[in-house]
Amino acid sequence: MVKNNQREVWGSKIGVILAVAGSAIGLGNFLRFPVQAVKNGGGAFIIPYLISFLLLGIPLMWIEWTIGRFGGGFGHGTAPGMFHNIANKNRFVKYFGIIGIFGPIVIYIYYTYIESWLLGYAFFSLTGNLALCQDQTSMVSFLKGYQGLEKNQFFSSIIPAYIFFVLTFILNILTVAGGIQKGIERVCRYGLPVLFLMGIILMVRILTLSPIYPEHIDWTPGKGLGFLWNPDFSALLDAKVWLAAAGQIFFTLSVGIGVILTYASYLKKNEDIILSGLTAAATNEWAEVVLGGSIAITSAFLFFGPEGIKNVAESGAFNLGFVAIPLTLNHIHYGFIFGFFWFMLLFIAGITSSISLAQPAIAFLEDEFNFDRKKSVKIFASVTFVLCNLSVFLLSKGFVDELDFWGGTFALVLFGTIEAILFSWVFGIDRAWDEMHAGSDLTLPRFYRFVIKYITPSLLVIILVFWFIREAKDVVLMKNISAEVMPYIIFTRFVLFALLVAIAWLVHIAWKKKEA
Ligand code: PFF
Repeated sequence: MVKNNQREVWGSKIGVILAVAGSAIGLGNFLRFPVQAVKNGGGAFIIPYLISFLLLGIPLMWIEWTIGRFGGGFGHGTAPGMFHNIANKNRFVKYFGIIGIFGPIVIYIYYTYIESWLLGYAFFSLTGNLALCQDQTSMVSFLKGYQGLEKNQFFSSIIPAYIFFVLTFILNILTVAGGIQKGIERVCRYGLPVLFLMGIILMVRILTLSPIYPEHIDWTPGKGLGFLWNPDFSALLDAKVWLAAAGQIFFTLSVGIGVILTYASYLKKNEDIILSGLTAAATNEWAEVVLGGSIAITSAFLFFGPEGIKNVAESGAFNLGFVAIPLTLNHIHYGFIFGFFWFMLLFIAGITSSISLAQPAIAFLEDEFNFDRKKSVKIFASVTFVLCNLSVFLLSKGFVDELDFWGGTFALVLFGTIEAILFSWVFGIDRAWDEMHAGSDLTLPRFYRFVIKYITPSLLVIILVFWFIREAKDVVLMKNISAEVMPYIIFTRFVLFALLVAIAWLVHIAWKKKEA
């Protein structure tokens, strides 16, 4: 039995920063960011992106570290217990917290499967199989064959993908079973430096490449960088670009979902929040715009040029990372090694994120039901293994996209809004500000107090209202969904709803027991 007063703690300050940075740095930095940036016009995207980072990302990062450390002091590692305490034990507020367990599980269900493709691709880079694909058509066939979407000369079944999925799943579970210090902290401590090293090597190699085609000598790395970094102010009035930028900031920083709350609950009472939170967020941004931006966008630009790169990004979420980049790498000496680096880097980035997605559900069972870690991990593994299989086998039916929408997009903004309001307005900005600064050497400029109290919550509410007006009806009525996949989407929504209700019910029982 784990008693509340014996909750685990992080082993060191650098350990917790690396764990949070590890959660933040993930597929979002290397696959999602480049696609979002290219689709939304490159230089037009970067300004809303940076503004969202300053006004939404950083404040939410601090808010979550603060609520998390505060809640951890009461023995709570997840949002229901934390919200219960910051809202003066109001009976209802804890139910908002269920999103902070639900969201991470939903993302985990598809994220782990995509992460496993990277392990598969790292393997097939080394074996030379990937190097056989010299053009876009064969690279796309390779991906479709691997995903089990078609049988072709590369793959005749989904078995290879399934093996890599099971391996990835087991690695995740073994890590969380090791606990905070010996599992999560250790993997991030070793994983992140390796990731940075591989990222820097790749970045240097790509930035020093010569143009691939003699007829396009202006498709250079410098022009590729300019695609992202030449600001374009004309799109600043386009709401779509702002929504995409804000969504990317949430996803990439892992904020607005409950994961950072759980990690922060293992901080000691007076451990620094402000500088550590800022360092973790800044490390993520460096990995995203410097590494992710230059590796992915530049290499795709070298191969496809200024127009082609947009078509690739529009043609599917995975085509930049799984098609464009390996194609470019295949054109350089020892390309298979660079290909291996690219996919391995992504795999490490993925696993340090997926373990953070697993931890809230595990912490919930440990803290609120007093289960020991082994039992909690077993329950988590059994439930998510079944659900992950749906990602594997219903990929072509829109299962993953649906989860990405509800868990990876909608839940983040909704939960972020709830947190921001609870923090500044229910807990109260005065207490919140003091709590945030407890144990910190730095004092934030008062400007940020204003941002956290007024700007962040208002922007979040505006985004939500905007979404309701523009898209809610179509999403709810499944307007853009074909008749063929409709039954699967209904099934997916049913599964999600059942999961949400199950968590609400668990919260209900846990508190009933406590109050008895
Ligand atoms: N931040 C991760 C990425 O960029 O890939 C994804 C993620 C992890 C989102 C954990 C949310 C989360 F809670």
